[in-house]
Amino acid sequence: MSTLAVRFYDVVLTVHILAVVIAFGVVFAYPVLDAWFRRAVPGNLAALHQLHLTLGRRVVSPAMVVVLLAGIYLATQDPWSFGDPWISATLAILFVLFGLMGGVLTPADRRLAQLAERDASSGSGPSADYERERRRTDIVGGLALLLVIVAIFLMVGKPGA
Ligand code: HEM
Repeated sequence: MSTLAVRFYDVVLTVHILAVVIAFGVVFAYPVLDAWFRRAVPGNLAALHQLHLTLGRRVVSPAMVVVLLAGIYLATQDPWSFGDPWISATLAILFVLFGLMGGVLTPADRRLAQLAERDASSGSGPSADYERERRRTDIVGGLALLLVIVAIFLMVGKPGA
């Protein structure tokens, strides 16, 4: 590798890791953020789910695309290849995360925002429907965080490399 290529690899690796921090850092703060919101602003839980949706659209998804693109570049550089199990497994995890975001978590936040608005207008506090949907969403969100931890472990440990 030439000196220039090494420097470019390091720049892309920095971008990759920065994008990981930006994409997932905020999501690891959700349990604290959500609990605070429920205590401090119980009458406007719709705003919490709108915030999740905005962060998902403006921060998490774009940063995940950067993780993917930078990761693809890194994986094509010597000595790595897509045949390395730690790379292919993390690629699969990232696609599962895209699927969970687009297929489960984003639609759930939309539904939760609607339910919270309905509950607020009836003045009754969070309904059983809202709490049921929220528990389901929290389980999927927790699973997504677990997958991120596994991905970081695979990337750092590079088992089989
Ligand atoms: C959730 C998804 C991902 C996370 C959390 C993640 C995290 C990381 C981290 C923390 C590193 C630095 C590891 C180190 O220097 O020891 C890294 C490096 C790397 N990642 Fe990822 N990554 C993800 C997805 C991907 C994908 C999808 C690919 C390939 C398509 C990929 C390819 C690589 C490569 C080749 C390195 C370079 C390792 C090195 O030079 O030491 N990553 N990743």
